[in-house]
Amino acid sequence: MKVELYEATDQNPNLKDYDEAVKHHDWSEVEKQFSWYETGKYNMAYECIDRHAENGKGDKIALHYKNGDQKSSYTFEELKKASNKAANVLKDEAGVVKGDRVFIFMARSPELYFSLLGALKIGAIVGPLFEAFMEKAVRDRLENSDAKVIITTPELLPRIPVDDLPSLEKVVVVGDGVEAEHIDFNKSYESASDEFEVEWLDKEDGLILHYTSGSTGQPKGVLHVQHAMVQHYISGKYVLDLKEDDVYWCTADPGWVTGTSYGIFAPWLNGATNVVVGGRFSPEAWYGAIQDLDVTIWYSAPTAFRMLMGAGDEIVNEFDLSSLRHVLSVGEPLNPEVVKWGMKVFNLRIHDTWWMTETGAHMIVNLPSMDIKGGSMGKPLPGVEAAIIDDEGNELPANRMGNLAMKSGWPSMMRKIWKNDAKYDSYFIGDWYVSGDSAYKDEEGYYWFQGRVDDVIMTAGERVGPFEIESKLVEHPAVQEAGVIGKPDPIRGEIVKAFISLREGNEATDELKEEIRKFVKEGLAAHAAPREIEFKEKLPKTRSGKIMRRVLKAWELDLPAGDLSSMDDD
Ligand code: WTA
Repeated sequence: MKVELYEATDQNPNLKDYDEAVKHHDWSEVEKQFSWYETGKYNMAYECIDRHAENGKGDKIALHYKNGDQKSSYTFEELKKASNKAANVLKDEAGVVKGDRVFIFMARSPELYFSLLGALKIGAIVGPLFEAFMEKAVRDRLENSDAKVIITTPELLPRIPVDDLPSLEKVVVVGDGVEAEHIDFNKSYESASDEFEVEWLDKEDGLILHYTSGSTGQPKGVLHVQHAMVQHYISGKYVLDLKEDDVYWCTADPGWVTGTSYGIFAPWLNGATNVVVGGRFSPEAWYGAIQDLDVTIWYSAPTAFRMLMGAGDEIVNEFDLSSLRHVLSVGEPLNPEVVKWGMKVFNLRIHDTWWMTETGAHMIVNLPSMDIKGGSMGKPLPGVEAAIIDDEGNELPANRMGNLAMKSGWPSMMRKIWKNDAKYDSYFIGDWYVSGDSAYKDEEGYYWFQGRVDDVIMTAGERVGPFEIESKLVEHPAVQEAGVIGKPDPIRGEIVKAFISLREGNEATDELKEEIRKFVKEGLAAHAAPREIEFKEKLPKTRSGKIMRRVLKAWELDLPAGDLSSMDDD
């Protein structure tokens, strides 16, 4: 196969020789770079913030926050104090103790970061939620995790079914007009002490709980532990190429694992200046942020790059983006056209990275020193053993498509699926972690993504489970049955498409489609609402009554539907 190579320059010679790095990588050497290597005392928030404040970097900017014209900056010392204050509020007023699940449900703001770090200082397990979630999505996650405390804003508060959640003891509200039954964050924060004794933890103690979607069942709670920081740190160095003077911007929300592993942990473990941009996407706001804050490293996603590409090249020239030196992408296949466009407008390569909520950190990457093959996800992170395997766990030779898998044992691997051991176990064939993606590896060891093996939908970089949407759809009084698939889309990768059969007495009208779409949007989340709805008399089902999404997909793509032997045809 002929591929176009985008060559490495020696401008950023991080890990000059990939093969050497692989040969010599040793996780325990990486561990020696942490204070806990000697003390045995772990705390992610301490390693991210306090350690730098205490080691001569107190005056360095840790966080730039920008939202439209609003801008604020905090040094490591200020962030240490701000997170101490937040920790005191959570401990003294909300009664948070080590191991409690503390959820954060708010739009990106400095307070989100103060309270997330504050909760970590107490040793709580943080559950970050997308601000787009509506009541059902919020309820399912709080219920499953027995969350004790949630931190939110007045706008989002109505979506939390406080009275139906017996484990939820306290609601902390960041904003004005907080009712007496809740904790007024701003008021308590004002008077809280800026000193706090960090709770020292064990390396296997909980850190963060990210809910993510599979193709069946409710979203699952993926638990990561303190020890994950080893990989956050080293991938930040190797892959993001973080150096002392970098200003780094990851565009992801902390509701998504990229927004925590690489929007919080990796940059701060490396002591870099971290940029957070609030508000909605627009090319002007994004290019403006790079220009105004002198961003040097930028980590985003294919959908965003495609939208920027669609906005035209002229607009790029209206901004001074000369500070940029390293650009990366994650979440969906990065099209070779986008890499080409990046070369043209930024004169920089876009480095694809592959990983998952479950893996906690980078797995397959393009290091600055590697040549890039447009369309390939790159090679395994040094320290990670990857392979393409068949369904029995046998490794397949080059150029054969199969299951993308990794050998267990990397530090940032999830430690459990909350309250669902069977689900956790189902990820493994022997000691191979099986990703659910299909891929192949070429003769030079580059991995090429082919698709999901299951029905999980990736829309605009977000992972949505068809089951969760189908469950919501059938709650609508007009809906008899629903099957949901991802339909290929040039900008978003995939869009959510629903096939619906209606209950008797309902007419298949455009108004009804609109109403159903709104029902999902307001009940679950905007990104889960089907962009397309098609009414059908009857949906294809197996004899056991399971809707065959595979057949729906074949209808959509005009493909043969494959083996229909299990289909119910009466
Ligand atoms: C997809 C957390 C192609 C893949 C980061 C994976 C990708 C799923 C890439 C995980 C990539 C992620 N190329 N596909 N570079 N990166 N994916 O947990 O299907 O929300 O299994 O992402 O995203 O989704 P998650």
